[in-house]
Amino acid sequence: MQISGRLELSRRHLLIVGAASLAASSIATPLPAAAQPARTGAPVMTRVSFDVNGETHQLELDTRTTLLDALREHLHLTGTKKGCDHGQCGACTVIVDGRRINSCLTLAVMHQGDEITTIEGLGTPDGLHPLQAAFVEHDGYQCGYCTPGQICSAVAVLAEVKAGIPSHVTADLNAPVRLTNAELRERMSGNICRCGAYSNIAEAISEVAGRSA
Ligand code: FES
Ligand code: FES
Repeated sequence: MQISGRLELSRRHLLIVGAASLAASSIATPLPAAAQPARTGAPVMTRVSFDVNGETHQLELDTRTTLLDALREHLHLTGTKKGCDHGQCGACTVIVDGRRINSCLTLAVMHQGDEITTIEGLGTPDGLHPLQAAFVEHDGYQCGYCTPGQICSAVAVLAEVKAGIPSHVTADLNAPVRLTNAELRERMSGNICRCGAYSNIAEAISEVAGRSA
């Protein structure tokens, strides 16, 4: 009897506490004006300026524009491809300040003052970059959709190896880095080729790496 009385008391106590906290949480605390979500849906525009393939561009962009869309839709440099738009395929790879990035995963406004190289900046039809020439020579593509990203990535891989930057599969961190088959496949693993031209791609990159070694 005594026990059930205590249980009854604690149940009542629990209900009172619950009701009190519900009432407290339902009293809306106004957010400061700066933290209020925009209600108009109007894009927020801003200016950004960066170099693409040696040329300075100034753009007025919706702040949500990715670098990939800025390149393709605003600068009409359509060599950089949109594959997944989710950072999974590498088709959108470009080189920013010497490092390769997935341009679909970064906002254009984050690149104020940066130097960007796309496939259009690597070579011309009459003067191919050595990697472009090697891809042609080794048939390193089928549909070609992944190829600009593969080549931009490969440019960065050769630079990484030259600079002695290890990868996830580098066994000896004190030895000079060599572009073995395992190193090449690991470093290029972010670039998917749906046509499966991997062995020819590897041959093309290895040839250029061997030449420049
Ligand atoms: Fe950027 Fe696929 S389009 S990673
Ligand atoms: Fe077609 Fe790579 S050549 S996706």
